[in-house]
Amino acid sequence: MSRCPTSEERRLRNLVRRHDRWRGREVFNLLPSENAVSPIARSYLASDLAGRYTLPVTTEADGEVLDNSYTGTRYTDQIEQLANAAAARVFQARRATTRPLSGHIAALSVLAPLLPRGSKILAIPPDQGGYDGYAPGFAPALLGLSVRPLPADGPGHSVEAETAVSVIRRERPDAVLLGQSFFLFPYPLREIADAAHAVGALVLYDGSHVLGLVAGGEFQQPLREGADVLFGSTHKSFPGPQGGIIATDRDDLFDQLDPALVWRTFDNAHWNRIAGVAQTLLELERVGREYARTIVANSLALGGALADLGTPLVAERAGFTRSHQLHLDRPRLRAQWGIGAGAVARRLEAQRLLIDLVARIGTAEVTRLGLRPRDMPRLADLIVRGGRDGERVGPEVGRWRSRFPGLRFD
Ligand SMILES: Cc1ncc(COP(=O)(O)O)c(C=O)c1O
Repeated sequence: MSRCPTSEERRLRNLVRRHDRWRGREVFNLLPSENAVSPIARSYLASDLAGRYTLPVTTEADGEVLDNSYTGTRYTDQIEQLANAAAARVFQARRATTRPLSGHIAALSVLAPLLPRGSKILAIPPDQGGYDGYAPGFAPALLGLSVRPLPADGPGHSVEAETAVSVIRRERPDAVLLGQSFFLFPYPLREIADAAHAVGALVLYDGSHVLGLVAGGEFQQPLREGADVLFGSTHKSFPGPQGGIIATDRDDLFDQLDPALVWRTFDNAHWNRIAGVAQTLLELERVGREYARTIVANSLALGGALADLGTPLVAERAGFTRSHQLHLDRPRLRAQWGIGAGAVARRLEAQRLLIDLVARIGTAEVTRLGLRPRDMPRLADLIVRGGRDGERVGPEVGRWRSRFPGLRFD
């Protein structure tokens, strides 16, 4: 048998290497949905755990009670316990699980066992910054839920307490599903939770975008402010490998959720990923507060510097943001810069600056690289020269980027 790699294998190796060099060393990543994983967490992704199973679920077969379907799991199971305990500490929750494979799977894993088919939920519509997955044709269709809009019509798609409370009282939903893909400002959560609980509704908080800020004590503490369940992705402002977390103080809900995790929305939970998430949680216990504070400080500094250079941003009067995101104001961008947000993003991509095509700019990964508020005027200048003026700033970006070879906050 030949050990000589085929041309396709060589091509694949080359593509992965080129990707790693480009995304890991040559660009500034300002996509708010992504982050950089620490070297130790990355090493766990490539560990032997990557190919292993464990299923610590009690089953009965042929008169025998089994506590796992597999052998060889003595370390795997301890790793998972360590991860879940760390998640509970970081999110100040009585119970937590790191099993969901992603934020979306975490959402399905919460909604499916807690809400019977036919239940009514309130969710923020996608055209007001809500997550597309909660639009009627997607997760709700799969789970047999009806969705009514929870308006996010304040500055920067924020939710106003008075509006939310009156919609909750009118609609009397079974659950209020908070969380947005365009997520700038915390919710008036206590008011929302009081109104929801008064009509017997659960408050489910999808913190996919802001989970790293919540972990560091910034933004808001959903479980302290009235949310029944917090869940989300582990790879946006939370700087871990791609995955999902669920946390709650409510034993009754966790006891409903937990047995349904396996076999409803997944089987194998990918224990190499869980080891990586555990490492990230432990890192955040050490440095999460400074990490989260620096992200928000960078967002505010970048927002101010972009606005000073004439960049139209949403929620200017509300102070731009309290999160890791900034949003270009699309209509004003077209009117003032004469170009759409998608075209700006494509121009910037060619100049080694990645923002997304839907007008969001994120500061989590550049914070992880070590950029500080004092660096934001320079970053804003490069964004404006590259995005508005179509200047060839790529070489300057590349030289600056090479001064940040490692990660901070790990
Ligand atoms: C608010 C929100 N929830 C859930 C998801 C899905 O997360 P994942 O990609 O981890 O499945 C997203 C994705 O961007 C999101 O913005």
